[in-house]
Amino acid sequence: MSNGKAIILSGIRPTGRLHFGNYFGAIKDFIELQEQGDKTCYYFIADYHALTTVTQPTDFLRQTLDMLRTYVACGLDPRRSVIYRQSDLPCTAELSLLLGMVTNIGFLLRGTTYKDHLAKVKFRPDEPEGNPLSYGLLGYPVLMAADILIVKADLVPVGDDQRQHVEMAADIAQRFNQRFGEVLKLPAGVPRGALRLPGLDGSAKMGKSEGNTLDLLDDEKTVLKKIKAVATTTDPLPLNARSNEPDEVIPQMPPSVGALYRLLHLLAPVGIYDDFVNKYRRGEKFYGALKTTLAGYITQFNRPIIEKYNDPSNNDEMIRGFLRDNAARVTPVALETVEAVRAAMGLGHSLHRA
Ligand code: TRP
Repeated sequence: MSNGKAIILSGIRPTGRLHFGNYFGAIKDFIELQEQGDKTCYYFIADYHALTTVTQPTDFLRQTLDMLRTYVACGLDPRRSVIYRQSDLPCTAELSLLLGMVTNIGFLLRGTTYKDHLAKVKFRPDEPEGNPLSYGLLGYPVLMAADILIVKADLVPVGDDQRQHVEMAADIAQRFNQRFGEVLKLPAGVPRGALRLPGLDGSAKMGKSEGNTLDLLDDEKTVLKKIKAVATTTDPLPLNARSNEPDEVIPQMPPSVGALYRLLHLLAPVGIYDDFVNKYRRGEKFYGALKTTLAGYITQFNRPIIEKYNDPSNNDEMIRGFLRDNAARVTPVALETVEAVRAAMGLGHSLHRA
């Protein structure tokens, strides 16, 4: 949209239930950007990307509807942000195909998503079909470049694990422009690395597949059960830190205790957080109180989300409706890019669109 507003774009994999890692790593930033009012925000469900590693039929539409219901409950507003499904903008796939023509295989072999998956599979290079990974997975960064470039995004808020993909998108755009003229707008980059929340088991990342999540729809009982189960067997050790800044003190704690403090810092007034850090410094016995206090703040945080999630107006029909309307809003923007790319490459404008 050429109304002078900065263009924000981010993609969300349709994973179903959302957890605190999703919230503090992405959703919170999306909502803040939406509220700033001087930006055009595109947030889309990356359902094509979800297919790159699929092994059996999965109901991605169902997962998308459930997930968006939670996003709306958190404050994402489909009137202020343009929220659509990637597969409802199929010209993204067309752009991806065209960008694939200027993308070397060697460049894609360095992609982290591809490399991570390759490390986990049995690869027999000497056999004719030795590499079991999909062409789609290798092309993950090309499709992601198409997502970004098609709406002429300026900024792409993503977590650190996706930063490389955004840089690859800029590289692909640059290569295209060198060969075919200045057609594509290069994204400036990632605003700032989003917070990576540790798992309740103390591991570095809260993640659905790790089974260590605190979910946005967890009720009081579930919250208490999950927080009580967090390991706090080691006694507090002296802290070698002058301030109570979480980035200073948390790395010095046993990881699962650190996870509790991270959440407390995010959810409780700073005075409460400081109080518990000071208790830790004094080596008091306080883990029981820390857990019930924290569980209280989590429940308080989740309550309005659960309420809005259960609001009768927040239903499948409403979500399908805004997905349709917003796909219609973004389509002309996207087609403008695709047509310019076609023309620059020599195909000419399309004579008919299926
Ligand atoms: N790959 C991103 C993830 O796994 C999702 C995504 C797809 C995306 N396309 C995008 C993010 C474009 C930002 C921009 O989280």
